[in-house]
Amino acid sequence: MSKIAIMGAMPQEIEPILKKLGNYKTTKYADNEYYEATYKGVEVVVAYSKIGKVFSTLTATIMIEHFNCDKLLFSGVAGAINPNLKIGDLIVASKLSQHDLDITAFGHPMGFVPGGSVFVEADKDLIAISKKVAHELGKTVIEGTIATGDQFIHDEKVKNNIVKHFNADALEMEGCSVGVVCDALNIPFFILRSISDTADTDASFSFDKFMQSSAIISAQFIMKMVDHIVDAK
Ligand code: ADE
Repeated sequence: MSKIAIMGAMPQEIEPILKKLGNYKTTKYADNEYYEATYKGVEVVVAYSKIGKVFSTLTATIMIEHFNCDKLLFSGVAGAINPNLKIGDLIVASKLSQHDLDITAFGHPMGFVPGGSVFVEADKDLIAISKKVAHELGKTVIEGTIATGDQFIHDEKVKNNIVKHFNADALEMEGCSVGVVCDALNIPFFILRSISDTADTDASFSFDKFMQSSAIISAQFIMKMVDHIVDAK
Protein backbone atom coordinates (compact mmCIF):
# COMPACT_ATOMS: atom_id res chain seq x y z
CA MET A 1 0.00 0.00 0.00
CA SER A 2 1.30 3.35 -1.03
CA LYS A 3 1.99 6.22 1.36
CA ILE A 4 2.58 9.59 -0.28
CA ALA A 5 4.79 12.34 1.17
CA ILE A 6 3.82 15.88 0.14
CA MET A 7 6.37 18.52 1.05
CA GLY A 8 6.73 22.27 0.84
CA ALA A 9 9.34 24.56 2.36
CA MET A 10 7.06 27.25 3.79
CA PRO A 11 3.65 27.14 5.50
CA GLN A 12 1.99 28.88 2.51
CA GLU A 13 3.18 26.05 0.25
CA ILE A 14 1.29 23.35 2.16
CA GLU A 15 -1.73 25.27 3.53
CA PRO A 16 -3.82 24.71 0.34
CA ILE A 17 -2.99 20.99 0.55
CA LEU A 18 -4.05 20.71 4.20
CA LYS A 19 -7.27 22.56 3.35
CA LYS A 20 -8.03 20.02 0.62
CA LEU A 21 -7.30 17.09 2.96
CA GLY A 22 -9.68 18.41 5.61
CA ASN A 23 -8.99 16.21 8.63
CA TYR A 24 -5.46 15.32 9.59
CA LYS A 25 -3.46 14.19 12.62
CA THR A 26 -0.54 16.38 13.73
CA THR A 27 2.61 14.70 15.04
CA LYS A 28 5.62 16.59 16.36
CA TYR A 29 8.92 14.98 15.41
CA ALA A 30 12.53 16.24 15.13
CA ASP A 31 11.55 19.84 15.81
CA ASN A 32 8.87 19.91 13.11
CA GLU A 33 5.20 19.04 12.59
CA TYR A 34 3.97 16.27 10.29
CA TYR A 35 0.34 16.07 9.18
CA GLU A 36 -1.04 12.59 8.49
CA ALA A 37 -4.28 12.02 6.62
CA THR A 38 -6.14 9.48 4.54
CA TYR A 39 -7.11 10.93 1.17
CA LYS A 40 -9.54 8.85 -0.93
CA GLY A 41 -8.34 5.73 0.91
CA VAL A 42 -4.61 6.44 0.51
CA GLU A 43 -2.33 7.54 3.35
CA VAL A 44 -0.54 10.87 2.91
CA VAL A 45 1.94 12.72 5.11
CA VAL A 46 2.34 16.47 4.63
CA ALA A 47 5.00 18.81 6.05
CA TYR A 48 6.82 22.05 5.37
CA SER A 49 10.50 21.70 6.04
CA LYS A 50 11.52 25.33 6.58
CA ILE A 51 13.70 26.99 3.96
CA GLY A 52 16.95 25.59 2.61
CA LYS A 53 18.86 22.43 1.81
CA VAL A 54 19.55 21.28 5.38
CA PHE A 55 15.97 21.52 6.66
CA SER A 56 14.56 19.99 3.47
CA THR A 57 17.05 17.11 3.67
CA LEU A 58 15.95 16.45 7.26
CA THR A 59 12.24 16.53 6.44
CA ALA A 60 12.52 14.34 3.33
CA THR A 61 14.55 11.78 5.28
CA ILE A 62 12.00 11.70 8.09
CA MET A 63 9.06 11.39 5.67
CA ILE A 64 10.71 8.28 4.25
CA GLU A 65 12.54 6.67 7.18
CA HIS A 66 10.16 7.51 10.04
CA PHE A 67 6.77 7.82 8.32
CA ASN A 68 7.54 5.14 5.67
CA CYS A 69 6.42 7.17 2.66
CA ASP A 70 7.20 5.42 -0.63
CA LYS A 71 6.91 8.35 -3.01
CA LEU A 72 7.49 12.07 -2.50
CA LEU A 73 5.93 15.09 -4.19
CA PHE A 74 7.26 18.59 -3.54
CA SER A 75 5.16 21.69 -4.17
CA GLY A 76 6.32 25.30 -3.99
CA VAL A 77 7.60 28.42 -5.70
CA ALA A 78 10.77 29.27 -7.63
CA GLY A 79 12.63 32.09 -9.29
CA ALA A 80 12.54 31.91 -13.10
CA ILE A 81 15.64 31.81 -15.29
CA ASN A 82 14.05 30.62 -18.55
CA PRO A 83 12.45 33.75 -20.07
CA ASN A 84 9.43 31.68 -21.15
CA LEU A 85 8.53 31.23 -17.47
CA LYS A 86 6.24 34.00 -16.21
CA ILE A 87 4.80 34.62 -12.73
CA GLY A 88 2.43 31.76 -11.83
CA ASP A 89 3.74 29.41 -14.56
CA LEU A 90 4.62 25.86 -13.58
CA ILE A 91 7.93 24.07 -13.97
CA VAL A 92 8.44 20.35 -13.44
CA ALA A 93 12.02 19.33 -12.69
CA SER A 94 13.44 16.65 -14.96
CA LYS A 95 16.79 17.04 -13.18
CA LEU A 96 18.19 19.14 -10.37
CA SER A 97 21.60 20.31 -9.20
CA GLN A 98 23.13 22.12 -6.22
CA HIS A 99 24.39 25.42 -7.65
CA ASP A 100 26.33 26.29 -4.48
CA LEU A 101 28.27 23.04 -4.12
CA ASP A 102 31.75 24.15 -5.09
CA ILE A 103 35.00 22.20 -4.91
CA THR A 104 36.16 23.54 -8.27
CA ALA A 105 39.46 24.37 -6.51
CA PHE A 106 40.27 20.66 -6.91
CA GLY A 107 39.37 20.51 -10.60
CA HIS A 108 35.81 19.22 -10.18
CA PRO A 109 32.84 20.74 -12.01
CA MET A 110 30.43 22.96 -10.07
CA GLY A 111 27.81 20.90 -8.24
CA PHE A 112 29.99 17.80 -8.07
CA VAL A 113 31.58 16.03 -5.12
CA PRO A 114 33.21 12.57 -5.30
CA GLY A 115 30.58 9.87 -4.80
CA GLY A 116 27.81 12.18 -6.01
CA SER A 117 26.73 13.52 -9.38
CA VAL A 118 26.11 17.02 -10.77
CA PHE A 119 22.44 16.23 -11.46
CA VAL A 120 19.81 14.05 -9.79
CA GLU A 121 16.89 12.91 -11.97
CA ALA A 122 13.23 13.02 -10.95
CA ASP A 123 10.93 10.03 -11.45
CA LYS A 124 9.81 9.60 -15.04
CA ASP A 125 6.45 7.99 -14.17
CA LEU A 126 5.50 10.92 -11.93
CA ILE A 127 6.57 13.35 -14.68
CA ALA A 128 4.33 11.40 -17.09
CA ILE A 129 1.40 11.82 -14.66
CA SER A 130 2.10 15.57 -14.53
CA LYS A 131 1.83 15.72 -18.32
CA LYS A 132 -1.59 14.03 -18.18
CA VAL A 133 -2.73 16.48 -15.49
CA ALA A 134 -1.43 19.45 -17.50
CA HIS A 135 -3.33 18.20 -20.54
CA GLU A 136 -6.53 17.75 -18.52
CA LEU A 137 -6.26 21.23 -17.03
CA GLY A 138 -5.25 22.78 -20.37
CA LYS A 139 -2.12 24.14 -18.71
CA THR A 140 1.33 24.56 -20.23
CA VAL A 141 3.91 23.07 -17.92
CA ILE A 142 7.60 23.44 -18.73
CA GLU A 143 9.84 20.47 -17.96
CA GLY A 144 13.40 21.53 -17.23
CA THR A 145 16.41 21.82 -14.96
CA ILE A 146 16.14 23.31 -11.49
CA ALA A 147 19.16 24.66 -9.60
CA THR A 148 19.02 24.55 -5.79
CA GLY A 149 21.15 26.49 -3.30
CA ASP A 150 21.10 28.13 0.10
CA GLN A 151 20.63 31.67 -1.23
CA PHE A 152 17.65 33.72 -2.29
CA ILE A 153 18.96 34.90 -5.69
CA HIS A 154 18.26 38.55 -6.54
CA ASP A 155 21.07 39.43 -8.91
CA GLU A 156 21.37 39.00 -12.71
CA LYS A 157 25.10 38.19 -12.46
CA VAL A 158 24.60 35.39 -9.96
CA LYS A 159 21.70 34.11 -12.04
CA ASN A 160 23.80 34.14 -15.24
CA ASN A 161 26.55 32.22 -13.47
CA ILE A 162 24.04 29.51 -12.55
CA VAL A 163 22.94 29.36 -16.20
CA LYS A 164 26.58 29.05 -17.29
CA HIS A 165 27.24 26.03 -15.08
CA PHE A 166 23.89 24.21 -15.07
CA ASN A 167 21.78 25.61 -17.93
CA ALA A 168 18.96 25.77 -15.37
CA ASP A 169 15.42 26.98 -16.11
CA ALA A 170 14.54 27.94 -12.53
CA LEU A 171 16.12 28.15 -9.11
CA GLU A 172 14.99 27.54 -5.56
CA MET A 173 16.35 26.35 -2.22
CA GLU A 174 15.18 22.76 -1.56
CA GLY A 175 14.50 20.64 -4.64
CA CYS A 176 17.88 19.06 -5.23
CA SER A 177 18.51 18.21 -1.57
CA VAL A 178 15.13 16.45 -1.44
CA GLY A 179 16.03 14.70 -4.71
CA VAL A 180 19.39 13.49 -3.39
CA VAL A 181 17.69 11.96 -0.32
CA CYS A 182 15.03 10.21 -2.43
CA ASP A 183 17.58 8.98 -4.97
CA ALA A 184 19.78 7.49 -2.23
CA LEU A 185 16.78 5.77 -0.60
CA ASN A 186 15.22 4.62 -3.92
CA ILE A 187 12.05 6.66 -3.45
CA PRO A 188 10.44 8.09 -6.61
CA PHE A 189 10.25 11.88 -6.33
CA PHE A 190 8.70 14.80 -8.17
CA ILE A 191 9.48 18.52 -7.79
CA LEU A 192 6.93 21.10 -8.95
CA ARG A 193 7.39 24.86 -8.71
CA SER A 194 5.30 27.84 -9.68
CA ILE A 195 7.16 31.05 -10.51
CA SER A 196 7.12 33.83 -7.88
CA ASP A 197 9.90 36.07 -9.28
CA THR A 198 12.68 36.27 -11.85
CA ALA A 199 15.66 36.25 -9.44
CA ASP A 200 16.70 39.77 -10.41
CA THR A 201 16.94 43.01 -8.38
CA ASP A 202 13.14 43.09 -7.93
CA ALA A 203 12.98 39.47 -6.76
CA SER A 204 12.22 40.08 -3.09
CA PHE A 205 9.30 42.44 -3.93
CA SER A 206 7.96 40.05 -6.55
CA PHE A 207 8.32 37.12 -4.15
CA ASP A 208 6.38 38.92 -1.40
CA LYS A 209 3.66 39.86 -3.86
CA PHE A 210 3.22 36.54 -5.69
CA MET A 211 4.52 33.80 -3.39
CA GLN A 212 1.11 32.95 -1.94
CA SER A 213 -0.82 32.94 -5.25
CA SER A 214 1.91 30.92 -6.98
CA ALA A 215 2.08 28.47 -4.04
CA ILE A 216 -1.66 27.87 -4.47
CA ILE A 217 -1.26 27.19 -8.21
CA SER A 218 1.45 24.61 -7.48
CA ALA A 219 -0.49 22.98 -4.61
CA GLN A 220 -3.66 22.64 -6.70
CA PHE A 221 -1.69 20.95 -9.47
CA ILE A 222 -0.01 18.58 -6.98
CA MET A 223 -3.40 17.55 -5.57
CA LYS A 224 -4.62 16.75 -9.11
CA MET A 225 -1.57 14.52 -9.42
CA VAL A 226 -2.43 12.86 -6.11
CA ASP A 227 -5.94 12.22 -7.54
CA HIS A 228 -4.33 10.41 -10.48
CA ILE A 229 -2.02 8.36 -8.27
CA VAL A 230 -4.93 7.43 -5.99
CA ASP A 231 -7.23 6.55 -8.90
CA ALA A 232 -4.58 4.23 -10.34
CA LYS A 233 -4.66 2.15 -7.13
N1 ADE B 1 12.43 30.73 -4.51
C1 ADE B 1 11.62 31.61 -5.14
N2 ADE B 1 12.34 32.61 -5.67
C2 ADE B 1 13.63 32.35 -5.38
C3 ADE B 1 14.85 33.03 -5.64
N3 ADE B 1 14.88 34.17 -6.33
N4 ADE B 1 16.00 32.49 -5.17
C4 ADE B 1 15.97 31.34 -4.47
N5 ADE B 1 14.85 30.66 -4.19
C5 ADE B 1 13.69 31.16 -4.64
